[in-house]
Amino acid sequence: MHVNPYERFWMWAAAAIIVLFFGTIGVGLLGQGIRPPSHVETIDPQAVWSDARFAERGVATNPDGSVTVTGITLMFAFQPAEIRVPAGRRVTFRLTSADVTHGFQIVGTNANVMVVPGYVSQFTIVFAEPGEYLIVCNEYCGLGHHAMMGKLIVEAAP
Ligand code: CUA
Repeated sequence: MHVNPYERFWMWAAAAIIVLFFGTIGVGLLGQGIRPPSHVETIDPQAVWSDARFAERGVATNPDGSVTVTGITLMFAFQPAEIRVPAGRRVTFRLTSADVTHGFQIVGTNANVMVVPGYVSQFTIVFAEPGEYLIVCNEYCGLGHHAMMGKLIVEAAP
């Protein structure tokens, strides 16, 4: 079958672009560990403050030494605003929103989720190094969006 050289060129170019685009997903997934949150758990967005799962906000240590952080995002704060977790342990964050969609990004790490009303955002991360990290909201949520921030303190494990 005769294929015009220009047509052949653009066929290969289109194939190369497809490989490139899927390749960027592969690099992010395998090389940089970027994964979309896959935890699907719903909550009544009107009753977040009275929901038993979010009645106690803060840091809880599990029997196996891992830690669970329970928090609520709201205009324009994180509750709790300051979180202390141990280094080198598995830390599972469980977050929900009391009003609109917020973001929860721990600057300098790959912890970065949307917190959508009606859902519980959950992810697990290990902080290798003790230190102080800034938590920011990176979903525009209203006039005080830029002031919505929190602090994560990773302490040397006892
Ligand atoms: Cu919360 Cu922007």
